[in-house]
Amino acid sequence: MKIGIIGSGNMGRSLGILWAEQGHQVFFGSRDAEKGKAVAEFAELGTQGGSNDQAVAFADVILWTVRGMMPTQLLSHPEALNGKIIIDCNNQEIPEGFAYPAIVESLAEKLAKDVPNARVVKAFNTMAQEVFELAPEPLRDYGVSVFVAADDEQARKTVMQLAEEIGFLPIDTGTLRNARLVEGLGDFIRLIIIGQEQGAYATICVNILPAAQEQRLGGRQASSLK
Ligand SMILES: NC(=O)c1ccc[n+]([C@@H]2O[C@H](COP(=O)([O-])OP(=O)(O)OC[C@H]3O[C@@H](n4cnc5c(N)ncnc54)[C@H](OP(=O)(O)O)[C@@H]3O)[C@@H](O)[C@H]2O)c1
Repeated sequence: MKIGIIGSGNMGRSLGILWAEQGHQVFFGSRDAEKGKAVAEFAELGTQGGSNDQAVAFADVILWTVRGMMPTQLLSHPEALNGKIIIDCNNQEIPEGFAYPAIVESLAEKLAKDVPNARVVKAFNTMAQEVFELAPEPLRDYGVSVFVAADDEQARKTVMQLAEEIGFLPIDTGTLRNARLVEGLGDFIRLIIIGQEQGAYATICVNILPAAQEQRLGGRQASSLK
C-alpha cells in the first residue's frame, strides 16, 4: 500500500515507521518539506519525505495527525483526497481539569464534511505513543483494541488490516457516526494515563467471552423496561 503521513510528529512518525517495516511504501509529509525528509531518513527503511501536498499525491491511504486543521486549510489541492482513505487518529485538546465536553460531532465527522469525497476512517486514537513502541511484538500478546469506524466498509476493512499487521486487535465499530464514541474512549484513556498518575502504558482491550455453560443466574430474560 502507498501510505502518506500528514504531520510528521509522534503519531505520524510512529505509525509510518511501523507500516514501512511491514513493507508498505510510506511518504512522510510536513509543513516543512525538509522535516518530512529528515523523518524519512530517521526511519531508515527506504521511506520518502517532503510536503503534505506531496504525501497526499503519493498515497492511497493517508494518516491525518493534525488536530483541528482541515484539508481545505492545509492542502493546496484538497480535491487530491477524493476517493482516498483518510485515517483520523486525532483527539480533542484536553480541557482544564479533564472536564471534557460531550461530543455532539466527532473530529472525524468534521474531517469528512470538509472533504466529502474522501473515505474517512476513525482509528488509532485510543492508545498512547508508548504503546506503539511495543509494536508489533510483544504488543500482539496483549490484544490491544483498535476501534475502527467508517461509512465505507472497504475502507474500514483496509484500516483493520493495517492495524492487525502491526500487532493490534482491530474492532469493527461501524459507521463514522460512532467516531463520537471512539473519541470518547480516547478522552477516557488519557484521563487514566495522565489525569490519574497510573502510567503511560494503560490501554483499552475489548474481550470477546465464551457463553456460560449453564445459566445458574437465570439467564437473560425479557426486560419490562421501556
Ligand atoms: N501522541 C499520542 O500518544 C497520541 C495517541 C493517540 C492519539 N493522538 C492524537 O493524534 C494527534 C497528533 O498527536 P501527536 O502526538 O502526533 O502530535 P505532534 O507530535 O504534535 O504531531 C502533530 C503534527 O501536526 C503538525 N501540525 C501541528 N500544528 C499544525 C498546524 N497548525 N498546521 C499544520 N500542521 C500542524 C506538525 O507536523 P509538521 O511539523 O510535520 O508539519 C506536528 O508534528 C492529536 O490529535 C493527538 O490527540 C496522539
